[in-house]
Amino acid sequence: MGQVSIFKQHIAAMTAYAPPLEGRDPGTYTLLDFNERTIPVAEPIRQALIDFINSGRLQMYPCYGDITQNIADYCGVPEEQVMITNGSDQGIDVVIRAACREGDEIIIPGPSFAMYGQCARVENLNIIEPQYTLEGGFPLNEVLSSVNAKTRLIVISNPNNPSGTLLPPEDVVRIAKAAPGAVILVDECYFEYSKVTVADRLAEFPNLVITRTFSKTWGLPSVRLGYVLSAEENIQALLNVRGPYDVNQFAVAAVQAALVQPDVTLSYVDEVIQQSKPLLESFLKERGVTFWPSAANYLWTFPAEAERVNQALIDASILVRPKADAQGQLGLRITLGTREQTERLIEVLSGVL
Ligand SMILES: Cc1ncc(COP(=O)(O)O)c(C=O)c1O
Repeated sequence: MGQVSIFKQHIAAMTAYAPPLEGRDPGTYTLLDFNERTIPVAEPIRQALIDFINSGRLQMYPCYGDITQNIADYCGVPEEQVMITNGSDQGIDVVIRAACREGDEIIIPGPSFAMYGQCARVENLNIIEPQYTLEGGFPLNEVLSSVNAKTRLIVISNPNNPSGTLLPPEDVVRIAKAAPGAVILVDECYFEYSKVTVADRLAEFPNLVITRTFSKTWGLPSVRLGYVLSAEENIQALLNVRGPYDVNQFAVAAVQAALVQPDVTLSYVDEVIQQSKPLLESFLKERGVTFWPSAANYLWTFPAEAERVNQALIDASILVRPKADAQGQLGLRITLGTREQTERLIEVLSGVL
């Protein structure tokens, strides 16, 4: 018999969330595997980081200045409705920890981003997992009928990762109304791509909590800055859980610089959504490859012999993310990059499909 863990039994029995990060050399590969921005950040952002290193403040604890106000301005909400976090992963973790206790029910429509389930398992919650479908999208009726007195939190990954499915704000609101005592965690990680938000409904629905990030569109996953948007009293409660220095100063320096000129960053969004996405979609349609309708910068595709296609892409120095659906069929989640990168991707796929 194995030694009894010094930690909680359910935690010792878990497996870590370990995405395949090693060997992702941007000098060797075109990285279409993590839904990242596929080109470097603008020069002023790089310079802001260098300036911070040279500012003689590395030995000091972080000082956040007006970053929260600047993010609030960008989002069009009052500063009191914003809390910065160490990536949106921390936002998800803090919200789940603040809302749920062991044995509570959490509804996480699946398949979805791994962190929700990971944080729920750490808290030993009962996970209810209605399934997204290619035909029906978000399992709205199942979510609504799963709500009961034990439901403490409902996750709406909007758009969902890996499927790209978008739930319209009116349906988010239906869920918020149906479960007034539960937290409705709306993960708007890919907001700049979908341009759909419920940030304008926070005052109306005190159970809405939004998480967002500078990791994806803004191209800054390495420095880790996310934020939570919610009613002021919720932000006050969440600040009791988040540590005072959880966000590092590099993240703040980089994001301050990025927010000075959002257009530089966001013009990349236009290229991805207006050029790359239709290009790849029409190629896939032409070749009869099934893919999920997506509101984000990635497409979950199901080519025949996905394994072989994946290997051919690796051989051509393109990384994508293999992800099986609920039936166990292997798909490839492909991040959309620049038009040029998409043309090259299509060229390689043309030779394999
Ligand atoms: C839906 C979703 N939410 C949150 C995250 C985490 O982002 P962050 O880097 O801000 O922790 C990801 C990253 O893949 C994601 O896909």
